[in-house]
Amino acid sequence: MNLVNKIQGLKKEKKALLLAHNYQRPEVQDIADYLGDSIELCRKAMDEKDADIIVFSAVDFMAESAAILNPDKKVLIPSLGARCPMAQMLTAEQVRIWKKKYPETPVVLYVNTLAEAKAECDICCTSANAVKVVNSLDEDTVLFGPDYNLAWRVQRKTGKNVIPIPSKGFCPTHILFTKGDIQLMRDQRPDAVIMVHPECIPEVQLSADFVGSTSQMCRYARGTSATKYVVGTEIGLIHRLTKENPKKTFIPLSDGAICPNMKMNTLERIFLSLKEEKHVITIPKSIAKKARKALEKMLFLL
Ligand code: 13P
Ligand code: SF4
Repeated sequence: MNLVNKIQGLKKEKKALLLAHNYQRPEVQDIADYLGDSIELCRKAMDEKDADIIVFSAVDFMAESAAILNPDKKVLIPSLGARCPMAQMLTAEQVRIWKKKYPETPVVLYVNTLAEAKAECDICCTSANAVKVVNSLDEDTVLFGPDYNLAWRVQRKTGKNVIPIPSKGFCPTHILFTKGDIQLMRDQRPDAVIMVHPECIPEVQLSADFVGSTSQMCRYARGTSATKYVVGTEIGLIHRLTKENPKKTFIPLSDGAICPNMKMNTLERIFLSLKEEKHVITIPKSIAKKARKALEKMLFLL
């Protein structure tokens, strides 16, 4: 029996659901029960009733969110080392220090944060809803972290005073795209539509035709008549885009846009995760309770 069949067999036997992020390896995307961006995966994990186990093929903060939103399920992450570097850039202690400095200012945290940091914020957001979340608040000034580039976008779209915490948090994969990459593509592929993620630097966002979360890019490509697209995000999204739009062409803005943490989840690791029921995500109850409030506030808002 090959690995895929073994995984399918274990999933059935253990009543397990496999959730995968849009950046997962193609062979993992192909066997996932559900593939999505971070907000879609949050919702799916929260609403799941039938499964006993959720295997979350992504990085640490996403699996943590699933465990927080559905505490009755056993949530497994196939690779313990799959940690989003951006999420490590803002600790709970740092958030507390910023809150002391700005006691009247609400704290909005990108879901790309660890549970302890989320527990310190007023509301979470993802790249798909950050503008909506900040607009929903009465205050004109907000503390926003950890992604500086998303904070820049939110400030531009809402007209509010968005204070980035820390002052320059970033995604090591997305900041590598440059305006020069876009110019080169415009010269080489003048008929292509350029889509980028809001974790890209401001001048890249300003030079693109569409800026959105990974699933927003998928919807945009499905609903637009253009036949060629340049994709400025982690390279894993190209597989989904091509599968969903076989008659369209998708070109990576850079072949090197790889998130090594997302790529740690191989079929072998998913098989072992299911077989040995590892690695279980556990979050201290007091932290989970507060983090859940911030996540639910976001999820019930929209
Ligand atoms: P999405 O919510 O757009 O899928 O983004 C998550 C992420 O980690 C981007 O780097
Ligand atoms: Fe984190 Fe960037 Fe990887 Fe997304 S692509 S998980 S933000 S390091």
